[in-house]
Amino acid sequence: MSEISWDLFHEQVSACTMCPLHATVTNKVPGQGDIHSPLMLIGEGPGQREDEEGIAFVGAAGQLLTKMLSAIYLPRDRVYICNVVKCRPPNNRVPTEEEMQACMLHLRMQVALVRPKVIVLLGSTALKATLGPNHYITHERGRWYERKGVWMMPTYHPSALLRDPEKKRDAWADMQSLRDRLMDLSLYPDIYQQTSSPDI
Ligand code: URA
Repeated sequence: MSEISWDLFHEQVSACTMCPLHATVTNKVPGQGDIHSPLMLIGEGPGQREDEEGIAFVGAAGQLLTKMLSAIYLPRDRVYICNVVKCRPPNNRVPTEEEMQACMLHLRMQVALVRPKVIVLLGSTALKATLGPNHYITHERGRWYERKGVWMMPTYHPSALLRDPEKKRDAWADMQSLRDRLMDLSLYPDIYQQTSSPDI
């Protein structure tokens, strides 16, 4: 197998015809952000704005995601953001199992390239695609899983928070748990600098 690289990843996504979604897109949306980030966020798939711009999470859900990150002092450009599927499903429907499986090749390559220490799974599609079909967001949000040395936490998708603001309380608890995990792992030391307790 040829050695993986970001060039190869982007070439493979732009040439991909492995599922029908490629035929109806304006732009593919591979993902973007800090390719050396210890934190990766995975959503479901591009919406209309993302399809128009070729950038993940730039619509209303993306704006809320930016706010959620800044609530734990993380600038958006310090994380890597992508989706399970790189092509917009028509009418923003949930991607089919076949579409998700076809696109997993790209997601696996992305994870191998970024090598994040922590992954946040935004919503049911990202949870099921990554941890398996028998996982349920309502039961498992906020729970931590360790897989091959990578910590993963499912939380609500920001679109779900826009539809049902009552979920925001749980989402905030999940963001605090994320911040605590990043601190425990000594990630982002410039942001989460531990101040030593003052001498008494
Ligand atoms: N919803 C997603 O899951 N991903 C995006 O990029 C935008 C909205």
